[in-house]
This record gives sequence, structure tokens and C-alpha cells, in this order.
Amino acid sequence: MSDNFAVKPVIAILGGTGKEGSGLALRWAYVGYPVIIGSRQLEKAQMIAGELNKILGKEMITGLENNHAAESAEICVLTVVQEAHQAALKSLSSSLQGKILVDATARVDFRAPAPPTPPSAARMAQNLLGDQVNVVAAFQNVPAHSLKKKLGETLDCDVLLCSDDIPSAQKVIDLANAAGMRALFAGGLDNAIVVEGLTALLISINKYYGIKNASLFISGLEGHPLKS
Ligand SMILES: NC(=O)c1ccc[n+]([C@@H]2O[C@H](COP(=O)([O-])OP(=O)(O)OC[C@H]3O[C@@H](n4cnc5c(N)ncnc54)[C@H](OP(=O)(O)O)[C@@H]3O)[C@@H](O)[C@H]2O)c1
Repeated sequence: MSDNFAVKPVIAILGGTGKEGSGLALRWAYVGYPVIIGSRQLEKAQMIAGELNKILGKEMITGLENNHAAESAEICVLTVVQEAHQAALKSLSSSLQGKILVDATARVDFRAPAPPTPPSAARMAQNLLGDQVNVVAAFQNVPAHSLKKKLGETLDCDVLLCSDDIPSAQKVIDLANAAGMRALFAGGLDNAIVVEGLTALLISINKYYGIKNASLFISGLEGHPLKS
């Protein structure tokens, strides 16, 4: 695993009390990133942070209310339930100005998985937050179930990453790599609608084969000197 940050940035995970957010928190904290779990309720954030620190065996994760978490971090990751995507962003907008927002939202109903209609959740986030926030879409295809397993080991899945801002995308690629995932730049924010839709395929595969962690791997990159 690698990371290119000389000093590790603080990462806030907004809605980090849930399945996907807490899995990402564990992976980053495990490799030394200071992580803040955000929640609508301070007590819940602190409780989940405490539980995750117990798993880690060290105090790397703190808990704050979502807005305070966003204000205290350099990079924010949004992992609230998909139904709350727009409302959560509206309430967080001023706290997110000047930051990178990583949007992990896949608007797919687990019970009846189908591709969402455009625009992508990440494009909606960018429109709502304005151009002082650099939105990066990522992790929509990474199963929460996989994140919490074998911390410190490389995950057998790729992260497809979309953004209109290449430097921000590269920072998130570095973060994904540090957490044990290969991340590939997959175009601008509008491409993220396809990545969200792929989640419908993965959920369908999980259901049909009775598994929990179907994920994606892109071939054809063997021997390519990927930017780390
Ligand atoms: N689960 C996966 O495998 C997976 C994989 C890839 C991407 N994702 C994406 O990650 C996101 C979260 O999924 P999840 O499975 O982790 O969800 P989850 O565990 O059901 O919930 C995540 C968090 O959302 C917050 N929340 C619930 N209602 C809210 C509301 N009305 N306003 C603001 N926050 C609210 C809750 O935090 P508080 O109550 O603490 O505020 C909750 O802990 C979704 O967009 C999903 O598409 C999930």
C-alpha cells in the first residue's frame, strides 16, 4: 500500500456511522490517517468511533456531528443513505466549501436493483455545492462487507473514480491506494452515473449467487506504470 501525502490529511466521513463509512474509516485509520466519523448525533458518532478504535487497538478515530466533522477535515467523504443525499449536502454545504468531497453514493435500491437516471449523484452534489468544492465520485462499487475484512491487506477490487478536477482525483486515488484498493481514473463526473449503475449489476450478482462482495476488476492494465 502506498500514499503520497507527506503529512496525512484529516479525513471526515459524513454518515460514517453506517456500513460503508465505518469500513472506509477502519481502512484509513489502520494505515495512520486521522479519521473523524460524522453523524447527525454527536453521541452516536463518538460511540461508533470508540467501537472502531477497539477493533484497531489504537485511538485513530474521533466522532463529531457532521458539520463539525466536515469543518475539521481536509477531505470529506459522504456515506449517508442515498435517500438523504440532497438534504445532507444542503445542510453541509457551507462546511464543505474549499474542500474535496468524495461522494460514495450509489442510488440503487437493494430490493430491486436498477440503474439510476442521470445526472449522477456526484454531479448533483457538484451543482449543489458550487465550484469551490471539488467533488470526486468513488467507492460506489466497493462492498462494505469487504472493507472490514483483512485490514491492511489489498482488496481484490478496483475503485472507479470520476471527477472534473484531476488534482483532486489524484489525491483520492492516493487515498484509495493507501487503504488497499487500486483506483482508476474513469473520466469526468457525468461518467459516475455508469459507476452507480454498475452497483445494480453487483447487487444482482450478489443476490443470484448468494454472496456479499461481488466487485469489479479492470483488465488490460498489466504492466502499466499507473500513477501511484
Ligand atoms: N453498503 C455498501 O456496501 C455500499 C457500497 C458502496 C456504496 N455505498 C453507498 O454508501 C452510502 C451509505 O450506505 P450504507 O450501506 O453505509 O448506509 P447505512 O449504513 O444504512 O447508513 C449510513 C448512514 O446514513 C446516515 N443517515 C441515515 N438517514 C439519514 C438522514 N435522513 N440524513 C442524514 N444522514 C442519514 C446514518 O448516520 P447517522 O444516523 O449517524 O446520522 C447512517 O449511519 C449510500 O449512498 C450507498 O449507496 C454503500
